[in-house]
Amino acid sequence: MPTSKLAQPLDSARGRPIPVAVRVDRFSYAIRNIVTAAQALEARGTRVRYLNIGDPVAFGFQTPAHLIEAVTRAMRDGHNGYLPSAGILEAREAVAAEYAARGVAVSPDRVVMTTGTSEGIDLALNALADEGDEVLVPSPTYPLYTAVLATINARPRYYRTDPNHEWLPDLEHLRTLVTPRTRVLVIIDPNNPTGAVYPPAVRRALIEFAERHGLTILADEVYADTTFDGPSPLLSTLDPDAPIISLSSLSKAYLAPGWRTGWMVVSATPRLDNVLAAVKKLADGRLCSPAPMQHAVVAALTGDRSHQVRFRRALAERARVTFDALNAIPGMRCVLPRAAFYAMPALSLPPGRTDEDYILELLRATGILCVYGSGFGMRPEEGTFRIVFLADPAELRAIYADIAAFTRDYLARSS
Ligand SMILES: Cc1ncc(COP(=O)(O)O)c(C=O)c1O
Repeated sequence: MPTSKLAQPLDSARGRPIPVAVRVDRFSYAIRNIVTAAQALEARGTRVRYLNIGDPVAFGFQTPAHLIEAVTRAMRDGHNGYLPSAGILEAREAVAAEYAARGVAVSPDRVVMTTGTSEGIDLALNALADEGDEVLVPSPTYPLYTAVLATINARPRYYRTDPNHEWLPDLEHLRTLVTPRTRVLVIIDPNNPTGAVYPPAVRRALIEFAERHGLTILADEVYADTTFDGPSPLLSTLDPDAPIISLSSLSKAYLAPGWRTGWMVVSATPRLDNVLAAVKKLADGRLCSPAPMQHAVVAALTGDRSHQVRFRRALAERARVTFDALNAIPGMRCVLPRAAFYAMPALSLPPGRTDEDYILELLRATGILCVYGSGFGMRPEEGTFRIVFLADPAELRAIYADIAAFTRDYLARSS
C-alpha cells in the first residue's frame, strides 16, 4: 500500500513534547510551587515542617460538627445534582441576611455562591479586566490575584503597604499608579500575608480613591471573622453605594477549606448591574459550585459560631509567640499580626542575597518551609517571607528556635 503523504508529518511529530500555552510561564503561585523543593527533601528522608499553606485543618483545628452534619444530610437527602449556577436560594438568602445583619443591605440575587474565594477572584477579574487593563493589587499580595491577571493578560500594578506603618497601604504611592487603563482596586483586609487590619480612616480613603477614579473595589474579606479582637466590619458598611464586590468563604473562619465553598456579594449600586450579569454569565460555564456544601453555608451563617471565639483566641496567642520570637532574632523584624494566621517578617539580607535563597537554605538546613516574599510581589532583596503560625505554640517556639539558630549561622556565613 502506498504511504500516505499525511503520514509523514504525523510520524515526525511522534515523540516530540507537546507545547504548552505561553501564558503558563507568566502564571505563578509560590505558596504551592515551593512544595516541590520540600518534597525533594522529604524523598531524601528529611522531616519537613510545612508552614507554607494557611489550612487550619492541617494543624488540628476542626470543622464545626453542625456544618459536617449539614453536608452529610444534604448528600443523604439527594442534593447531589447540578444547581443553578448562582447557587441555591437558601444559601444566597443566608449570605444576604448575614450582610444585612452586619449593616450591608443586599438582595439574594446579588449573591453568587462560588467554589471558594478563589473562584470569586477569578470570576470578578474576568468580568472586569480585559487584556491590557490594569489592576491595583497590594504588595505584598495574595498571589492568586496576579496569577489570574496573567491568564487574562491584564497587568497588576503593585501598591506598597508599609511595614513601618503596620503594613497599611501607602496612599501616596497608590495615587501615582492610576492610568486610563486602571479598572480595579484589590483590597485584602484583613490581610494575607501581613495580618494587617486597616482602620476606618484608611478604608474610607481607599473607597474615596476608587470612586474618584471610577474603579471597582474587589474586597477580599475572607479573614473578616478572624480579627483577634472581634470580627472586622465589612467594607461596604462605610459606603453602601460604592461599587464593591465582597468575597469570602467557609475556608478560614468556618474551618472548611477543602470544601471549596464561598460567596461573592455585589453591592447594591446599579453601577454594578452589568458586572453582576457578566459574573453570572461566566458562572454559567462552570455549572455550579459544590452542591452539598452550599447547605453548610446556611448552617454556618445561621448557627452556632462559638468555635470562632476559640479560634481567634488561639490565633492571638500564636501571633504573640511569633512576634516575640522573631523580633528576638538579630537582623529580623516582624509586625504584630492583628488577624488571620500569617506573619511577614523581614530579614536584613547581606548584599547579593535574595529572600528565595534564604528560604531555600532554611528549608534544606532545618526542614522548615516558609514562602519567600517575592512570591507575594515583594522585592527579593527586601528579605521578607511568610510564616503560617497555625501550629501549636510549643511547636512554634521550637520552630522559631531553629529559625534563630539557622539565621545566625546564615548571616555569619554570608557577611
Ligand atoms: C487573601 C486570600 N484570598 C483568597 C484565598 C482563597 O481562599 P478560598 O479557600 O476561599 O478559595 C486565600 C487563601 O489562603 C487568601 O488568603
